[in-house]
Amino acid sequence: MRELISARRISERVRELGAQIERDYADGRDLILIGMLRGSVVFLADLMRCIDLPLRIGFIGIHRYAGTTGGDLRMSADVTDNVQGADVIVVEDIIEHGTTLNACLELLRAREPRSIAIAALLSKPQCTKFEFSELRYTGFEIGSEFVVGYGLDHDQRYRNLPNIAVYAGE
Ligand code: IMP
Ligand code: MG
Repeated sequence: MRELISARRISERVRELGAQIERDYADGRDLILIGMLRGSVVFLADLMRCIDLPLRIGFIGIHRYAGTTGGDLRMSADVTDNVQGADVIVVEDIIEHGTTLNACLELLRAREPRSIAIAALLSKPQCTKFEFSELRYTGFEIGSEFVVGYGLDHDQRYRNLPNIAVYAGE
């Protein structure tokens, strides 16, 4: 498969995002990174080690039903920690249409955190459906190609690739 972003570029960019978050939340008291399962786990694991602040982590699972692109969403996991009054950063692997992310934000907003921001490793040009005013940290803007690796899958495979590649088909 054709490499789109090397492991080295990813790690440099993740370090930059971590430094930026560390500066932005230096005065905060209760930062929690909430990863959207499953694609964000690799990004979150690296990102949190680039933020030298006493933070918490949690995970949330919201998925589109297989084969759909619309609003048919299913929830498979929820954050168990209390987020009321906390500074939340939702960590997403890739924003395509933003449907799953939007559902996640609605859920979290209702729990009255002090603030919500989004950190997305990748974003695709389709990402115009929702305007996420919370989108504060983006790793890379890519084209509309389907990518795998560094947490991202095709049919649950290739999440373990250390880099990001354009999926070439079977
Ligand atoms: P959205 O709700 O349309 O933003 O869908 C985003 C979700 O679709 C991501 O969290 C991924 O799970 C998946 N997705 C979208 N584009 C890709 C891709 O290029 N590779 C792997 N997964 C993708
Ligand atoms: Mg996802």
